[in-house]
Amino acid sequence: MTAPKKLFIKTYGCQMNVYDSERMAEAMGGQGYVETQSADDADMILLNTCHIREKAAEKVYSELGRLKPLKDLKPDLKIGVAGCVAQAEGAEIMRRQPAVDLVVGPQSYHRLPAMEAKVRAGGTALDTDFPEEDKFEHLKGRGPKGKRNPAAFLTVQEGCDKFCAFCVVPYTRGAEVSRPAARVLEEARDLVERGVREVTLLGQNVNAYHGHEGGLSGLIRDLAKVDGLERIRYTTSHPNDMDDDLIAAHGEVPELMPYLHLPVQSGSDHILKRMNRSHTAESYLRVIERIRAARPDIILSGDFIVGFPEETDADFEATMELVRQVKYGYAYSFKYSTRPGTPAAERTLVDVDVADARLQTLQSLITRHQREIQESMVGRDVSVLIERAGREAGQMLGKSEYLHSVHIENCTGQIGDIAKVRIVEAKTNSLTARHL
Ligand code: SAH
Ligand code: SF4
Ligand code: F3S
Repeated sequence: MTAPKKLFIKTYGCQMNVYDSERMAEAMGGQGYVETQSADDADMILLNTCHIREKAAEKVYSELGRLKPLKDLKPDLKIGVAGCVAQAEGAEIMRRQPAVDLVVGPQSYHRLPAMEAKVRAGGTALDTDFPEEDKFEHLKGRGPKGKRNPAAFLTVQEGCDKFCAFCVVPYTRGAEVSRPAARVLEEARDLVERGVREVTLLGQNVNAYHGHEGGLSGLIRDLAKVDGLERIRYTTSHPNDMDDDLIAAHGEVPELMPYLHLPVQSGSDHILKRMNRSHTAESYLRVIERIRAARPDIILSGDFIVGFPEETDADFEATMELVRQVKYGYAYSFKYSTRPGTPAAERTLVDVDVADARLQTLQSLITRHQREIQESMVGRDVSVLIERAGREAGQMLGKSEYLHSVHIENCTGQIGDIAKVRIVEAKTNSLTARHL
């Protein structure tokens, strides 16, 4: 028997890349690969990349530069680039870094095994098509049955038809595609058999899911009936696709966790229009109001871009005002980054120092809210899905229903249990709890 070859995958970007990396590792299992945690002993290195901001894409080229000497030492080592940079840059990657043997776009992962065979034989391989066939249909099975982390990602939708003026996703991931509900349910049952208790349904625009006749809420209601699946989350949503039944599901389906990531990007209608977001600050706030009416304790999170072309002080103040009104439990804010090929790339940039100052101002407000919400959890009883053991004896770590990281002291539960706990302290990035 030949020794298995070793595959090292480094994942950048969003949760969808995390999910895709798992599926690629499983597909490469069929080619005789096992995963390794170190690039040094790998026979193949795959970078699963992100193109969302300039820095993210540049990171990939610097990492490739660092990997090149490894290949000089070990000529049999194969280096591949997957993900959104692969899709956006294609053959340019091999021109810029000749150490790269293989470039595969996100919709072609089912072709990876054949591409690997081609590079093993000494060639190079490039595939950035948007093929007709469903990649997941061809990436069969979830690998050998084994225990896995109790919280898992499950991609149900890919691509985006919204074309926000700043965003590369519609170009790197293609048009919106939904996986059929039957396939998703099958995968969820399989995950439960491996010890999974919580799934996060993923999609670039997950609430536009239409693989179930009842849309995303129909899928959630069916998943809630799967025995052993205790918790459901979904991300990322667009405010315009929060339909009545999805909002109602937040009040009606106990398995649907009280946490929602609902990006708004800006609080200024003028900027929202220039971003092609097709909603206003007011319509966004109305959606939030309806969600809170359905599930009063829900914790919200959002994404913001500051320094979008032409953003004035008044526009920025409108964003601050929206944040004050919503009070997010978490929020991710970014400085606008010009992406080649997007409509906003042609427009006049805001002064970089102004954009930096705005980012700091917004982030300190968000951090203050985040801390206040965490502190308001002290004394409350929550349930925590235990994901791993902590550093200290008797300590276990997991997430509350609100997605807070919780350290449980003197915990008597096991990994995979859902523990009832009382929060006793709020620290910077986590909560401490006592097992009840
Ligand atoms: N599909 C999701 C997330 C897309 S990317 C959605 O629609 O919300 C994640 C976040 O990156 C976006 O919400 C946005 O805040 C940020 N982002 C996207 N393009 C960007 C750019 N060009 N510059 C800065 N931030 C960007
Ligand atoms: Fe990008 Fe907008 Fe689509 Fe989100 S909705 S992926 S920000 S184009
Ligand atoms: Fe990045 Fe692609 Fe995700 S650009 S954020 S990895 S969809």
